[in-house]
Amino acid sequence: MTKIAVFASGHGSNLQALIDAAARGELAAQIRLVVCDRPGAYCLTRASQARIPYFMFYPHKYPNKAAYEELILRQLREREVEYIVLAGYMRLIGPTLLEAFPQRIINIHPSLLPSFPGKDAIGQALAAGVPLTGVTVHYVDEGMDTGPIIAQRQVSIDPGETRESLEQKIHAVEHELYPKVLQEIFTKRRENLD
Ligand code: GAR
Repeated sequence: MTKIAVFASGHGSNLQALIDAAARGELAAQIRLVVCDRPGAYCLTRASQARIPYFMFYPHKYPNKAAYEELILRQLREREVEYIVLAGYMRLIGPTLLEAFPQRIINIHPSLLPSFPGKDAIGQALAAGVPLTGVTVHYVDEGMDTGPIIAQRQVSIDPGETRESLEQKIHAVEHELYPKVLQEIFTKRRENLD
């Protein structure tokens, strides 16, 4: 079992997909900790329901990113976490965590990167009037949704598409893709260790 921490800021539907995939035996990972930067976010309820400990912090209460990332790092080390999985965590990762987890931080983003990085990628794609968008899983570096791409899936934007319908299609793809890609990464890593 690969020990992971999932970082989330909001609804946590991707967190739920990972919890469910692990419960079905399709993802050989143990979610040791959920890290969240927003009080009251629904991802915290999901963590509690799955009996996963969480660490909720108020970023603005710290002098800088290094200060709260040091605290997070301590929690991750205590729980022997091997990978950080970002699932709707809307904050840039700083050098403290990047250096502690080289090539071990993975993100999912609702567009075909490098198109539409940053916030509201779905709204950006709709506003641009493109016929095609998608989902990207990638390794995290210091940039905003940059870093080596691991996998991508296309999602069409059909005539009459609404934000709700597109969101639904993208989320469905994310929930299927993320556990699958993570499982592949963790399996390869275990094979290399054996
Ligand atoms: C997901 O669509 C994820 O790809 C996106 O936030 C959403 C979180 O949904 N992440 C980003 O935009 C990262 N830049 P969820 O909280 O229901 O999993």
